[in-house]
Amino acid sequence: MTIDKKAIAHSFSRAAPHYDSVAHVQRQVGEAMLDLLKASALKVDTALDIGCGTGALTVALECYAQHITALDLAPGMLEVARHNDQRGVINRFVCGDAEQLPFEAEQFDLIFSSFALQWCEDLDKVLSDVFTLLRPGGRFVFSVPVENTLRELKLSWRKADSRYQHVNEFMTVDAVKRSLDASPFTLMELQEKLNMVYYDTVRELTRELKTLGAHQVINNRTHSLTGKKTVFQMMSNYEHFRNHQGLLPASWHYLVISLQKD
Ligand SMILES: C[S@@+](CC[C@H](N)C(=O)[O-])C[C@H]1O[C@@H](n2cnc3c(N)ncnc32)[C@H](O)[C@@H]1O
Repeated sequence: MTIDKKAIAHSFSRAAPHYDSVAHVQRQVGEAMLDLLKASALKVDTALDIGCGTGALTVALECYAQHITALDLAPGMLEVARHNDQRGVINRFVCGDAEQLPFEAEQFDLIFSSFALQWCEDLDKVLSDVFTLLRPGGRFVFSVPVENTLRELKLSWRKADSRYQHVNEFMTVDAVKRSLDASPFTLMELQEKLNMVYYDTVRELTRELKTLGAHQVINNRTHSLTGKKTVFQMMSNYEHFRNHQGLLPASWHYLVISLQKD
């Protein structure tokens, strides 16, 4: 898999000013992650948020850590995060890639990442690097969307146009579990969750994905040439999922994981 990191950074930078207005699922995922942190009573010294986005979750880390570093690939996201952090809770803003983390070993007690690692090529490497950056006893709490995320949209596109991939392939639960097994971490908790979001029209969903910056499809440059007829066909396919309340569902399937460095 080749991931165009420049395109991802560009897409999220453009999305940054309006991201929070549509990040409803992301907020629910964030709540589930913060619940995991609540279980530990001690406030640690240093925390890092990888893929911090607009910083909504990063600032919530102040309850769990004294010094907070926010890292993101997209400069536009960091700009919004800095602007949103009116109380100056975040100590450092770093523009960087989760796959090339620019830090010395054993700098952090807590590393956090919500819905960002799906744009990484090699989860094994991320886990190994994060392990190195943590002090002994440190925790890595992260969430990633997995295989059935946006399955209705994916199936509707596949039936309309099998030549190109229009929706990202997310990791399978088994693949994530294999990476966890291969990592040096101790698994403390793994929660598998499914959130359904409902829309009146497919356009509402696709517009929301665009506003989130999450419409960037890995490994596919050609889909932007998709004709109107194919788009209408996809929308008509999606109608098969309309439920008894007359709404169109969109699945968000994800894992919330807590790991410890012994
Ligand atoms: C869906 S947003 C999630 C933002 C935030 N964590 C939240 O929960 O609202 C994904 C974020 O990850 C960032 N991102 C994507 N790939 C990344 C990478 N390789 N390294 C660092 N950040 C990355 C994007 O720029 C974006 O801000």
